[in-house]
Amino acid sequence: MAIPQHTIDQILDRTDIVDVIGQFVKLKKTGRTYSGCCPFHQEKSPSFHVYRDKQYFHCFGCQANGNAIRFLMDIGSRNFVDVMKDLSSQTGVELPKDNRDANKLKYKREAPKPKVTTPAPTPSTDRSAQPSTRNDTFTPNLEHDPFAEFQAFDASELQDPFAGFEQFNVAEEAVQDGNLYDLLENIAQFYEQQLPQSQTAQQYFKQRGLSSETIAYWRLGYAPEDWQHLEKAFPQDIEGIKLLGLIRTNDNGRSFNLLRDRVIFPIRDVKGRVVGFGGRALNDEIKPKYINSPDSEVFHKNQLLYGLYEGRKQKAHDWLMVEGYMDVIALQQYGVAGAVATLGTASNTEHLNILFKQNNRITIAFDGDVAGQKAARRTLEIALPLLNDGRELKFFVLPNNHDPDSLIRREGIENFRRLLNKAPLMSDFVFGLLTQNQDISTPEGKSQVMGELRQLTDLLPKFGTYKYLLSQSFKERMGVGRRWTPSTNNDAILSFNIRTRDEDFAIALLAMNPYLYTHFEILRAYLNENSILEYFLNCLDKIFENLPDDQEMAIYYVLGATSKYSNELAEILERVNVSYMLETPERAFNHATEYSEGLQNKFLKAKIRDAKSLKEGVNLRRQLNELTKKMAQRLISS
Ligand code: UTP
Ligand code: MN
Repeated sequence: MAIPQHTIDQILDRTDIVDVIGQFVKLKKTGRTYSGCCPFHQEKSPSFHVYRDKQYFHCFGCQANGNAIRFLMDIGSRNFVDVMKDLSSQTGVELPKDNRDANKLKYKREAPKPKVTTPAPTPSTDRSAQPSTRNDTFTPNLEHDPFAEFQAFDASELQDPFAGFEQFNVAEEAVQDGNLYDLLENIAQFYEQQLPQSQTAQQYFKQRGLSSETIAYWRLGYAPEDWQHLEKAFPQDIEGIKLLGLIRTNDNGRSFNLLRDRVIFPIRDVKGRVVGFGGRALNDEIKPKYINSPDSEVFHKNQLLYGLYEGRKQKAHDWLMVEGYMDVIALQQYGVAGAVATLGTASNTEHLNILFKQNNRITIAFDGDVAGQKAARRTLEIALPLLNDGRELKFFVLPNNHDPDSLIRREGIENFRRLLNKAPLMSDFVFGLLTQNQDISTPEGKSQVMGELRQLTDLLPKFGTYKYLLSQSFKERMGVGRRWTPSTNNDAILSFNIRTRDEDFAIALLAMNPYLYTHFEILRAYLNENSILEYFLNCLDKIFENLPDDQEMAIYYVLGATSKYSNELAEILERVNVSYMLETPERAFNHATEYSEGLQNKFLKAKIRDAKSLKEGVNLRRQLNELTKKMAQRLISS
């Protein structure tokens, strides 16, 4: 059974590692962590630590480490699926069923009628007799997916819903069950073939500036005016068409096709399979402007993004969330890959999660008008709880009454790109949003803004550093409190007498912004005794929970706790200038991660050299592997 990542995440979200491990190990709260004697090796003094905020355990002795799933697998020598089954029943998060889709994708096909009745309107080839012909120019070759490297994206989909294809090779007489994916593909081809038949539809796309390559790439089509064109083209598949919601019945019991006299945007899932359709009216007087096919067994609007498949195929790097199909298409035509749109619904957590899986940095485009600002605020509130692990959100505010499609046509692609690149970071955007109607020169204005900010930061992940960093940067910008800046002598950096080590940067970052401790605490597992960094981290571990909210106070607090090394610290701060790294929360976050990972890498390698047992060596190597992967990932996405 393949379990999709989002299900694993959901299960982990509802599991508390302290509870899980507490059933096997007697745990005691010490500083920031829970500790006890390691169940994986013999020991008398506790070196096994459980971090509730990171949902992670680590043994300083044998270097065993991981999340709740790893713990349960190792402690009971059980396999992954076995453990997941247990956790699934404990958390109530359902695992995918093995035979999940296969039956739901089926529908009853009708027997073919003798071919003397009124001919089907168009196309001339009667597709109903050969439901899975796949030799058209634009048909993706679904048997050999060129996109296979990405299929792990949703592992559950690997349980191939196409397994049913072979059945069409059986003799024609026995009427086989239909398959919804297959039917959707055939309907998409039908709509594509209708486009050349309609002057007005072709004219429409032309007037909107789409090239024939673009039309082919997005497989755009046309649904004819005929009230029952689908029934005529696919007489054997009416049950399937109904399951897809493409046939409607009016009050008089008369049935008609949902999409008529509209240009068609086929919607593909992440594997490139057509799963639904959007239809746009040919002029703006007709309401509604767009009609989308309703959710069905294979079409879940909440989990789909228009353009995701295409963007991944083009190896898009920067992802941009826009509002409409036409925006996605126009951007792609002008060479901007990675634009996606929701399917006529507001964007939700699932949509943002999908995007954050493509890259840690995503941009959301908004209309500059009042409605756009409201939407931006709402999206912000959905996005904030997801902002962990160095994720970054940017906001592209469009000039009034423009969408990317219209802006690109007015400004040209170069100007558009320039505007897009200037899109503010979340911290700047939020500052603008909260201060635009406030007089922040007054104490009242300031406290109003800080109050509203508090409401937003409350939505951030509980233990992340963004929370502190964001309110700190607000205070600085509004001049709340004085900024504590140690005198740094930039010239001294040029002196070659004293070598500056990464450890010094870590110490300086921690001294200037103690809240960054959560990024560095993992280093405690690898450091040898008697280094200043180790001393710093141990002190912070003890005082972190009681750090004052105010950054200036927090800094003095730390200086007090580490006064034993105050001379060394002063000397480090003289040499190492980190203030530019702390200018925005996003920067601080990234630099802290970067230095922490660099040091982990260095210390891990040293530890591997001195590993005392085989088991410890294996554990350490596994960690180094994971770390290297993470570092490579960040390098790619930066
Ligand atoms: P907009 O009304 O902003 O239109 O809808 P647009 O994308 O600029 O469309 P064009 O450029 O006039 O063709 C944005 C998105 O909202 C959904 C569609 O998904 C559309 O792409 N929508 C809009 C509907 O589902 N129904 C509607 O009636 C209108
Ligand atoms: Mn538009």
